[in-house]
Amino acid sequence: MSETALSNINFHALAQPLHDWYLLKKRQLPWRDNRAAYRIWISEIMLQQTTVQAVIPYFERFIIRFPDLQTLANSDIEEVLQLWSGLGYYSRARNLHKAAQLFVENGGIPSTFQELLKYPGLGDYTSRAISSIAFDEKVGVLDGNVIRILTRLLNYQQEWWKTEHKKYLQGVADSLNQFEFPSSEINQALMELGATVCLPQSPLCNQCPWSDNCLAQSQKSISEVPLKRKKTPNQIWYWQPEIYTQKNQVLLEKNTKLPFLKNQWLLPGKCSKQEDRPQNYDLKHFITHYNIYVKIKRHESAKALRLYSNQQWFDIDEIKHVNPSSLLSKCFSNSAAKSK
Ligand code: ADE
Repeated sequence: MSETALSNINFHALAQPLHDWYLLKKRQLPWRDNRAAYRIWISEIMLQQTTVQAVIPYFERFIIRFPDLQTLANSDIEEVLQLWSGLGYYSRARNLHKAAQLFVENGGIPSTFQELLKYPGLGDYTSRAISSIAFDEKVGVLDGNVIRILTRLLNYQQEWWKTEHKKYLQGVADSLNQFEFPSSEINQALMELGATVCLPQSPLCNQCPWSDNCLAQSQKSISEVPLKRKKTPNQIWYWQPEIYTQKNQVLLEKNTKLPFLKNQWLLPGKCSKQEDRPQNYDLKHFITHYNIYVKIKRHESAKALRLYSNQQWFDIDEIKHVNPSSLLSKCFSNSAAKSK
């Protein structure tokens, strides 16, 4: 099926009802009452990984502790990680902290998506979301929700994950932003529509501002659009961490071997990629597309141990700050339960 040329779509006639709907229906969210770039940036990084409802308490706690860019840039990464604990994807918190320091060095948060793209942790989507929501830059955003809405609107039955089709959809999203309506509102309207009306299953089409325009609805193909992408299966990893303790300290190693939690302090131990789930393990832990099966070995003594240069003793009470990942805390709880 060939795609409709952008020049043949009346984008103003689409932007108008979308904007009207948003002004009527938008939810009151803590990053919507004050659009300071700092707050928008923090909220967008948090919202990348979880739902609005889950993010709200994290966002509020974070803003109370780090109310502005300067405070965040001057803080210890351990404290940032601690406030992030539970949100997962700790590399995002590390990038956030690094970017805060770079923003301060360079005089603040840039106002264009092209400039934002140069900073750690900021990809195409987050950069566009920040520049449009905080500065009303006239650019569109494209994430899973927006892709679902736009492919249905146009009954676009193409492999949307391929570069050329993504480019087309980005063009559609950008075109909706070329009018008198603020981009902060057009883009958040799309996000809101995706979260509350144009749902993946059983969308609420009778509440949609585009119900008269939606080609997938009129052509009865909502359930087929967007096309489903075949998922690559999760990788299975078998990790055999070793717990060495002395007094109230535990030995950790900077992780350069495992593909998850890279460059973070983890327990030392062998790891290998597997074809199938191992038979014998103490606990399992899933991070993004990694299924990790863990078999723990606890050593009674660390006397004969010679440390490698990438290993270090840490106070047990400190571990939560050094690496708040629940994988590590699960290993300690499991081992403690077994030694009782
Ligand atoms: N998801 C990503 N950004 C969002 C925002 N600003 N509002 C609601 N949902 C979002």
